[in-house]
Amino acid sequence: MRHWPRAVLAAALASFLALASAADAAQPPPGASSCSGCHGTVPNGTPIPVLRGRPAHDIAGLMREFRSGARPATVMGSIAKGFNDRDIDAISQWVVGQGQ
Ligand code: HEC
Repeated sequence: MRHWPRAVLAAALASFLALASAADAAQPPPGASSCSGCHGTVPNGTPIPVLRGRPAHDIAGLMREFRSGARPATVMGSIAKGFNDRDIDAISQWVVGQGQ
């Protein structure tokens, strides 16, 4: 075969584009967009701290402490219990970066 059939090339291009958009850093991981409802990106006069700009591993550590109950919380305990370790790492990366 001298040339790839057009349909094969189109399918390859489509799957490449799908992978590229799945890896798009602009998309928040599942659960991460909910954080901004309470944690703003600038101090907003509430005791709820801004997460942006902090080290991701600190946020991940705090989330694990909330999840285990080691760190006292009003709401974060039940929020953190909804996430596994992979979720926590992905969400922590996201909230300290471009979004919250
Ligand atoms: C309903 C409001 C609310 C939402 C939604 C929320 N938080 Fe919180 N967060 C709080 C409050 C209130 C505290 C203070 C601890 C407590 O009382 O639970 C807190 C504390 C924290 C802290 C500890 C910060 C510090 O320096 O002590 C981290 C980390 C955190 N939240 C991460 C997150 C992440 C990640 C999400 C999204 C998955 C999230 N929060 C969603 C209200 C919220």
